[in-house]
Amino acid sequence: MDGNLKKIVDLFGRPLRDIRISVTDQCNFRCQYCMPAEIFGPDYEFLPKERLLSFEELTRLTRIFALLGVKKVRITGGEPLMRKDLPLLIKMIKDVDGISEIAMTTNGVFLAKYAQALKDAGLNRVTVSLDSLNDDRFGKINGRGFKVDKILEGIEVAASVGLTVKINMVVKKGGNDQDILPMARYFSEKGHILRFIEYMDVGNTNGWKLDQVVPSQEIVKMIDNEWSLEPVDSNYYGEVATRYRYKGTNKEIGMISSVTQAFCSTCSRARLSVEGKLYTCLFASSGTDLRGPVKEGKSDEDIIKLISKVWNDRHDRYSEERLSNTAELKKRKKVEMSHIGG
Ligand code: GTP
Ligand code: 5AD
Ligand code: SF4
Ligand code: SF4
Repeated sequence: MDGNLKKIVDLFGRPLRDIRISVTDQCNFRCQYCMPAEIFGPDYEFLPKERLLSFEELTRLTRIFALLGVKKVRITGGEPLMRKDLPLLIKMIKDVDGISEIAMTTNGVFLAKYAQALKDAGLNRVTVSLDSLNDDRFGKINGRGFKVDKILEGIEVAASVGLTVKINMVVKKGGNDQDILPMARYFSEKGHILRFIEYMDVGNTNGWKLDQVVPSQEIVKMIDNEWSLEPVDSNYYGEVATRYRYKGTNKEIGMISSVTQAFCSTCSRARLSVEGKLYTCLFASSGTDLRGPVKEGKSDEDIIKLISKVWNDRHDRYSEERLSNTAELKKRKKVEMSHIGG
């Protein structure tokens, strides 16, 4: 296969650079904003193992994506560490030509246990979701009463084995806004980058309302009032977070403002869902099946053609459209976040 395939762009000229791979739809948390317990209850049927792509199939698809220009892989879920032998998959993906970085998004519960194996397998970075430092609030947010200390332990073990760690905090008005300053203080002292994410209308079940969003500019003001911030240039094309630094230090925070300042114009992310469908937007209604072609033994060329066509035809810009708040958009049925990761 030609290692120098023409790199593809979509209808707005956006390249394909990142692939986010969901490796399981299962999670030990029941975060209200993602997998509410009322819906994801004891009888909820997760995908059986035979419906998941195997590690060999995921690696093959990653190799194909790399030929099309992907450099960065993010492993997501559900909770990715609930997929058996995950470090082995990391190792297989790490060996794919053209992939320069592998990151993983996790809730952190199993991180202390697996951090070393993940690092040894070649994982570069972990992003740990943590929305509060208060056990009562955190227990309610995660829907299962998990304690903060377990997550903080995972974060420290991950950092100690040499993984770069970032923390994601989804901020919901009236839910955890009182945690903004304590989180900022704690993680600046620890030296980990904390990113504040505006609460989004992902999936179909979280009952999102615009007035539950705390605009990230308010968060910046709040923190700046306490400690003084200055903006920092972005690290790379299409970076999701807007960066700030505590003045006079090299300590950083980030704002992910997908509601108030949509960043679709540089979105270079594709998502591979747990059932092997390719999604070109976090808010898409449908995806393109890649599992079928893989199982049917289609050639690399056929799969490259299929992915290229999907990306060439792409015109997603949901977060920008959301600002116009149309009735059509409100009715749209979206893929669940636990199937495509964040
Ligand atoms: P790095 O800069 O590589 O650390 O990655 P990242 O900023 O993409 O980080 P991460 O994958 O942790 O994304 C953080 C959060 O931003 C996700 O969990 C989502 O909530 C949100 N996000 C990421 N990508 C998109 C996107 O394409 N669209 C929207 N609307 N939100 C996104
Ligand atoms: N809005 C914003 N971020 C969300 N995440 C999950 N659901 C939402 C939502 N409704 C974040 C998680 C995690 C990542 C997988 O996505 O906190 O960091
Ligand atoms: Fe699990 Fe992450 Fe969804 Fe919470 S946000 S339910 S930790 S996948
Ligand atoms: Fe990309 Fe869709 Fe998010 Fe816009 S809303 S940044 S197109 S994933």
